[in-house]
Amino acid sequence: MLNVGKIEEGFVLDHIKAGESLNIYNKLGLDKLDCTVAILKNVRSDKMGKKDILKVECPLEMLDLDVLGFIDHNITVNVVKAGEIVEKKRLTLPKELKNVIKCKNPRCITSIEQELPHIFVLADEKKEIYRCKYCEEKAVKKI
Ligand code: CTP
Ligand code: ZN
Repeated sequence: MLNVGKIEEGFVLDHIKAGESLNIYNKLGLDKLDCTVAILKNVRSDKMGKKDILKVECPLEMLDLDVLGFIDHNITVNVVKAGEIVEKKRLTLPKELKNVIKCKNPRCITSIEQELPHIFVLADEKKEIYRCKYCEEKAVKKI
């Protein structure tokens, strides 16, 4: 099995559905950030069969992980400080999503004013329904 060393400070995103790590890398904007990233694909797992892991070495305040709750709330976020896991975060659905999904309503102001951010608000937590902040168009949850 391929081994990747432990990190000093940053995040280990564990239990990512196999094959989804690159999608998450992009959604978190890691391509634009100056941090060290290891993408582990198809890691053997007792619980999941196969899983992906993302290891991100960066100052803790550098990353906003809120969107992860929307992508997949089964991901474990291990927060690492001074070489030790200091927290295993539980993910919840974010109250607001900014530039994560696009409004598909052709009459929505976001399709006319191209520079506006696409903002969706959690309208029904139980049913996991998000609505466009501008026109209330329903969003499909999965991306
Ligand atoms: N890890 C790391 N750097 C550290 C500490 C931990 O990269 N300084 C990684 C480990 O390699 C592992 C993940 O963080 O992939 C989770 O570590 P740990 O909680 O010790 O493992 P498990 O007990 O297997 O986690 P879980 O119970 O969440 O499955
Ligand atoms: Zn809209």
